[in-house]
Amino acid sequence: MSLFDLLACPVTGETLIPDGDALVTPSGRRYRVQDGVPILTPVADQEITHEHPVTVRKDFEPTIQFVVDSLPKDRRILDLGSGNRDTDDPRVVRMDPMLSPYVDIVGDAHQLPFQDESLDMVYATAVFEHLHHPFEAAREIWRVLRPGGYALVDCNFVFPFHGYPAVYFNASTEGMRQLFEDFRELIVVVPPWQGPSFGIDAILSEYLQAFHPRTPEQHEFAAALRAIREYPLLEYDALLDPAGAERIAAGVTYFGVKQPSEGDSLYPACVLDAWRRREDLQARFPDPALLLDMTTPSPDNLFRWAMSPDADAEAGIVAWRDAVVPWHRSGEAT
Ligand SMILES: C[S@@+](CC[C@H](N)C(=O)[O-])C[C@H]1O[C@@H](n2cnc3c(N)ncnc32)[C@H](O)[C@@H]1O
Repeated sequence: MSLFDLLACPVTGETLIPDGDALVTPSGRRYRVQDGVPILTPVADQEITHEHPVTVRKDFEPTIQFVVDSLPKDRRILDLGSGNRDTDDPRVVRMDPMLSPYVDIVGDAHQLPFQDESLDMVYATAVFEHLHHPFEAAREIWRVLRPGGYALVDCNFVFPFHGYPAVYFNASTEGMRQLFEDFRELIVVVPPWQGPSFGIDAILSEYLQAFHPRTPEQHEFAAALRAIREYPLLEYDALLDPAGAERIAAGVTYFGVKQPSEGDSLYPACVLDAWRRREDLQARFPDPALLLDMTTPSPDNLFRWAMSPDADAEAGIVAWRDAVVPWHRSGEAT
């Protein structure tokens, strides 16, 4: 099974059937496949221009990398609004509205071209501020996730306007909670790279570009602002109390789980059985759904334990590990 088997028409939700160099729906909609990449935007041939070239990024943020690495090899993960993400992790499907050598499909967050409950995790970094209807995108993430699946999403808060295509809405921690209110919240935090220093520096930079001083006093003021940018603002983030930093953070990260029924989980029954039986596991992982507590220095989770030699004494878990069939977005065996 490949990525193509998970796709659905972004407008009608119908299945897509290969037809030459296109995918077609039973009702006659047609989507072209260009250079092997299905173009599944609801509006055909959207013109996309970024304000600045999107950097080619080889690695994920460490928190995302940790969560992605924690999931077994048969899981399917969507990098939503991936930009130019150069990853060879076969489980990660990269989707962006812009066609590039770094995407697996072209699509729009507001109408995800995936079947219901077809994915295990969706993450989106630096994307939600660019969405004109972020609540629709949050609902779409809910729809495409399996019960127990994860949403890991960050959004700018105190940060200047930028493209592509615009910044529509910035979100506080409370705003993120509203966006993802259907999910069970695992953690909402200001990650180290989204501290106030990042926003202050970017705002001062924009301010100085727009400010045209005339009088000596105004020139002095501009020089003072430039001088502030010379201070080690990132280091100073550590001097802020967390509640204060949250009120002026450049961005916030939301991590939640889709649980339409209590206890819905991506863990196989054998891992949950071990956790229910063993007090040591319950003490070590009080909430097994929490794959990453971004506030602790030594992250750990129940998936990592189950995949490690520490779980070798559990015959059911060993049998499950041996039976995992890796998923590859291209459909090839790994
Ligand atoms: C600042 S870049 C971030 C790229 C990447 N996620 C990263 O962290 O490097 C914002 C990305 O959001 C994408 N984007 C904008 N509107 C979108 C939409 N409606 N659906 C999905 N992605 C969108 C842009 O094309 C761009 O690649």
